[in-house]
Amino acid sequence: SGGPLVDTHGRVHRDLRISLTDRCSLRCTYCMPEQGNEWLARSSILSTDEIVRIAGVAAAAGITTFRLTGGEPLLRTDIVDVVRRLARIRTADGEPVQIAMTTNGIRLPEVLPDLEAAGLARLNISIDTLDRERFRDLTRRDRLDDVLDGIAAAAASTLRPLKLNAVAMRDVNDDELVDLVEFAIGHGAQLRFIEQMPLDAGHTWDRTQMVTREEILEKLGARWSLTPVPGRGGAPAERWTLDGGPHTVGVIASVTAPFCGDCDRLRLTADGQLRNCLFSTTEYDLVPVLRSGGDDAAVAAMLRSCVRGKLPGHAINDPSFLQPARGMNAIGG
Ligand code: GTP
Ligand code: 5AD
Ligand code: SF4
Repeated sequence: SGGPLVDTHGRVHRDLRISLTDRCSLRCTYCMPEQGNEWLARSSILSTDEIVRIAGVAAAAGITTFRLTGGEPLLRTDIVDVVRRLARIRTADGEPVQIAMTTNGIRLPEVLPDLEAAGLARLNISIDTLDRERFRDLTRRDRLDDVLDGIAAAAASTLRPLKLNAVAMRDVNDDELVDLVEFAIGHGAQLRFIEQMPLDAGHTWDRTQMVTREEILEKLGARWSLTPVPGRGGAPAERWTLDGGPHTVGVIASVTAPFCGDCDRLRLTADGQLRNCLFSTTEYDLVPVLRSGGDDAAVAAMLRSCVRGKLPGHAINDPSFLQPARGMNAIGG
């Protein structure tokens, strides 16, 4: 024990993505079935005390950033309390940790002032289309206006950089890429296009239908001259300036240009499973440790075995690839 969370491929882990709930206020086709999933039982969802405890042990082991995800993290009724308590944690070097959140934006206008006061540092908001009908078809909910209000609230806040995420989809939003970038610029935000990954509930993902990084760049390149921004670090997005800057656009090409070699992430599911990869088939169950009197050293040991078990990368591109049993909303985006 002791020392940073380094895996057998030399990657140092500094980022823990914490899923706070598997529930969501939307039903995006690439994530969940229409009827929703069989939700986790309340009793199997980690309590805030348990999350804060795991986070404290993780920070002592070298984690510096916590990203709150879901499902939809704002559906957690004590979300402000979760942020406040996590924000008080210090890194191994005695610095404040960074708390970020990925949300669909719904309910943000109500809670954002409290989240900021609680210590939230950064927000990423998902918005795949600006068209009301398309939004309704894609998310199976007529809530585009609520999302737009959430983005407006974030734009008016002090949280920066503000990022907007859009999964690029054929015949859904692939004619809207330029509009989405312009919308983001108008809100002082950075748009990032995401290649769709095989994590949908219906297991209908099809590589031949996927809008690739190359195609995204071609469409944007017809409107702007794109110059790569160097220094990606452990970030999943590659970035380009638009017409020389200052605005940028990002692409997260997990399928055609995976960043696994630089991956610094671990995941904690809402039901207390540690995962070393979105696509891992193994989960490391913290629940017995937490609920049967295990000490912090036992929690740390579980973190270390999870890191030790990490493979060099995902196998999406292998012919024998099998999609993980749990969908994105259960793994935590
Ligand atoms: P930043 O720290 O702001 O760069 O956030 P992020 O891009 O890591 O987080 P966000 O939740 O906004 O995720 C955007 C997209 O990147 C989603 O589709 C995520 O599933 C994907 N993503 C995030 N982390 C990983 C990862 O470790 N591996 C893969 N393959 N995709 C990831
Ligand atoms: N492929 C790529 N991105 C996805 N997201 C959800 N499901 C998928 C998928 N199958 C995105 C959401 C959100 C982020 C957390 O992950 O749109 O922006
Ligand atoms: Fe990390 Fe797995 Fe994502 Fe690769 S696919 S970047 S290893 S989480």
